[in-house]
Amino acid sequence: MEQRRNVIKAALGVGLSAGLTAVLPGGAIAQTNPREARPQEGDRFVVADGDRKGVVVKLDDLKTGAPPITVMPQEPVSGTVRDGSRLNQILMVRLDEASLKTDTKARAAQGVVAYSAVCTHTGCDGLSWAADKLWFKCPCHETEFDAADSARVVNGPAPRRLPALPLKIVGGYVVAAGAFIGRAGVTPP
Ligand code: FES
Repeated sequence: MEQRRNVIKAALGVGLSAGLTAVLPGGAIAQTNPREARPQEGDRFVVADGDRKGVVVKLDDLKTGAPPITVMPQEPVSGTVRDGSRLNQILMVRLDEASLKTDTKARAAQGVVAYSAVCTHTGCDGLSWAADKLWFKCPCHETEFDAADSARVVNGPAPRRLPALPLKIVGGYVVAAGAFIGRAGVTPP
């Protein structure tokens, strides 16, 4: 019996005890633990750190021209914060709508844009903000991403943009309008 259990675990590549994963057709692994699942349509957001940690983000909390905040998605029914994975860290900032490129504007909600906070190069977080350019800058190897233009790489070694998260406003709250566009985290070799 023990041998059979080990075979099943090896096949999944993960422990079954927590029931955290499912194997999709083609062998992909999906997270079923809501704390570890990536943001989904309908999720709200909570502040990830600082004095306001855990506060649900409303549109009125975000002022145009203020620096980005780091947030985590929150499952709306249970209130579960999806803080079980660092890949769920999200940078959120409200920009002048006139500054947004077409694709970015289509995903934004009243100027609010959101991107994965994990660099696509080697996975650092803690990106800084250049308010004059509207660029995020990675502290590890200085890749710069243009927040007004789908977080495209402006300078540096990152191989691709930060995945964007489409947004909408519902009842005054900032809400996810879909999943990340692209894979959060490091680009697989
Ligand atoms: S990890 Fe961000 S530029 Fe290298």
